[in-house]
Amino acid sequence: MSGRFPPDFLWGTATAAHQIEGNNTNSDWWAFEHTTHPRIKEPSGDAADSYHRWGEDMDLLAGAGFTDYRFSIEWARVEPAPDEFSAAQLAHYRRMIDGARDRGLRPLVTLHHFTGPRWFAERGGWMSADAVDRFMRYVEAVAPILGDVDHVCTINEPHVVALIARLIAGTADRDMAGLEPDPRASAALIEAHHQAAPILRAHWPRQQVGWSLAWVNAYADPGAEDAAERYAQPRQIVFADASRDDDWVGVQSYTRTKVGVVDGWLTELKLGPGVERTLTGWEFYPQAIGDAVRTVASLVGDIPIIVTENGVATDGDERRIAYTDAALTSVQQAMADGVDVRGYFHWSLLDNYEWGSYRPTFGLVAVDKTTFARYPKPSLAWLGSHK
Ligand code: BGC
Repeated sequence: MSGRFPPDFLWGTATAAHQIEGNNTNSDWWAFEHTTHPRIKEPSGDAADSYHRWGEDMDLLAGAGFTDYRFSIEWARVEPAPDEFSAAQLAHYRRMIDGARDRGLRPLVTLHHFTGPRWFAERGGWMSADAVDRFMRYVEAVAPILGDVDHVCTINEPHVVALIARLIAGTADRDMAGLEPDPRASAALIEAHHQAAPILRAHWPRQQVGWSLAWVNAYADPGAEDAAERYAQPRQIVFADASRDDDWVGVQSYTRTKVGVVDGWLTELKLGPGVERTLTGWEFYPQAIGDAVRTVASLVGDIPIIVTENGVATDGDERRIAYTDAALTSVQQAMADGVDVRGYFHWSLLDNYEWGSYRPTFGLVAVDKTTFARYPKPSLAWLGSHK
């Protein structure tokens, strides 16, 4: 695998504000991390202190040969109270955009990556009647700082946002494996995405607007295929259908997931013995991303695809390289078969807060929890030089 991607292919890593910045104290997740929910093993705390060290992070990325960086703007910082927008926080994120450009990195900016202001969640979050309006006010406030950003991702993994909405609201009647997005939240997220695009384009006519879909490659035992379809419909298909007018669609995939009906519930099934698992407990299945881009292409039609996340949680960096090598080969094979993939962003640049725990390490770079010193793993240089 090497030298087989087109010259203008986006080549980067992805991060999310809450997972690396630290002290995102005004967010709904910060509040959730301080409950006794079984999902929470530890709070995010200082994370990787990237709120202050983003320049160092970008230096590592550019120094390793990457040309692109996907990061997110934190709504909870930008709008700490309803309609109170922080000029200082907007200036902070503008400095990051400039900082990326100064280093030769093209920024792909996400406006919502799982977290929102605590006040938004307290008013019902994505299930509240004015959720879309609220998000639009935030988008209006952020749009002016997004000059020089070629690609904006409005919302990361909308189906997971809709699941988190239930988790945080305490209305989850099953664990994550069997939980279904609340259709009201899904509808609001789709509407928010559709309304955001014209706002952004009004400010920056050439901006390419899309969003990122989580693709888990659901499959089922022969004869039970309808379980996989029923699983994919509210989690993936509705959002792919809503992407048809976008400038691009982001695809994120890590594994495949076997589903079936247990005690009457459609749920993700446990892996059998002998299956290699990653630190998230997922099957080590690198061709997931190739499978995912093929399926998404068949659903959305003629829209360019960007792999906005793909990676593996492992302590063994050689396994990360093996996984990524096979994953990239699967993308190249899909491209050779005509799938229009325009870029690849690896998840993630840094070992970070994996939504409840620091244990699953996805990073190309390790971070000391006390000094915040960055320790690049061999995979950083390997991937940076492999376009
Ligand atoms: C999310 C990331 C997360 C990663 C690994 C994606 O679902 O966008 O925030 O850390 O997968 O679980």
